[in-house]
Amino acid sequence: METSMKKEDVRILAVETSCDETAAAVVQNGRQVLSNVIYSQIDLHTVYGGVVPEIASRKHIEKINQVIEKALSDAKTTLPEITAVAVTYGPGLVGALLVGVSAAKAIAFAADKPLVGVHHIEGHISANYIENPDLEPPFLCLVVSGGHSHLVIVEDYGTYRIIGRTRDDAAGEAFDKVARAIGLGYPGGPKIDRVSKEGNPDAIAFPRAKVGTEGSDYDFSFSGLKSAVLNYLNSCEMKGIEISRADVAASFQKAVTDVLVGHSMEAAERFGMKKFAIAGGVASNSALRAAFEEACGKRGISFYHPSPILCTDNAAMIGAAGYYEYIRGTRHGWDLNAVPSLKLGERA
Ligand code: KG4
Ligand code: ZN
Repeated sequence: METSMKKEDVRILAVETSCDETAAAVVQNGRQVLSNVIYSQIDLHTVYGGVVPEIASRKHIEKINQVIEKALSDAKTTLPEITAVAVTYGPGLVGALLVGVSAAKAIAFAADKPLVGVHHIEGHISANYIENPDLEPPFLCLVVSGGHSHLVIVEDYGTYRIIGRTRDDAAGEAFDKVARAIGLGYPGGPKIDRVSKEGNPDAIAFPRAKVGTEGSDYDFSFSGLKSAVLNYLNSCEMKGIEISRADVAASFQKAVTDVLVGHSMEAAERFGMKKFAIAGGVASNSALRAAFEEACGKRGISFYHPSPILCTDNAAMIGAAGYYEYIRGTRHGWDLNAVPSLKLGERA
């Protein structure tokens, strides 16, 4: 792995613990990932059908030091070579966030390095910079994760304009709930993605919600779709009709994809965006990627997406965002706190 360092290089040690991944990474100059260590707690939470905040916090405490040490050693770097320490301080689970924030503060204080707090969604968006050296703002980005569905104009590094958001469930949450209803278990997204390959996406006509109103034309709503799937399952059960899990999964996935692609392309046209990116856990969905590939291709829009491992929670994305925050002068004090409902673009 390339670890040579010039004097002007900015090497960020990044920490991410906002949900159920304990992660640390070393990223150079915003785009070169020297290490990316992720300890996923998914197996621990699967038995409960979702993330249990208390378990997540405890596991983060157990793993955080090991994960950070491994990130430094994988990157063949030492703390003195680190320029700054970046950490996710919101949004997320407060107890989980606190573990990363406390660890990052302790390391930055002990090593006498600047501390840079990073917004989790800014991290997801910035994951696109890592493998796309030519990508620079302005561009339109759809962020679809377990907790968020945002359509964002990235006006500049660190400057965001949200033009659409979910009114109820996040896209990933809908995937997880539908997966549970058809007995696929947690986390639902990757399982629906896999099962859908065997199903017919046009088998069941699930609704495509259009909730946009004047001033918020690009908002999303997924709870009606989730209810429609549940109603369909109930009515099949009552009528004694055997369901095809693959058809339900594929038809649900198509309904989500149609809405996400529809809103995004309308917005891209309206705002004259020639570059479009996707981010967040759901952005690793294969049908969604294929649909965007086609939709962007037709319109002459360049389409960007991170590799699946950089779509779901990781610290390399926090290192990328942390770099751009660092060079714009963002610095946090030792009083940095976890902010569970931090707004995108807000700086504590
Ligand atoms: O970004 P992420 O790791 O965590 C949050 O910040 O929320 O996203 C996790 C979400 C989960 O809801 C998971 O089911 C979904 O991303 N997900 C997927 C896929 N992989 C993960 N959804 C659809 N298709 C996938 N392949
Ligand atoms: Zn996330």
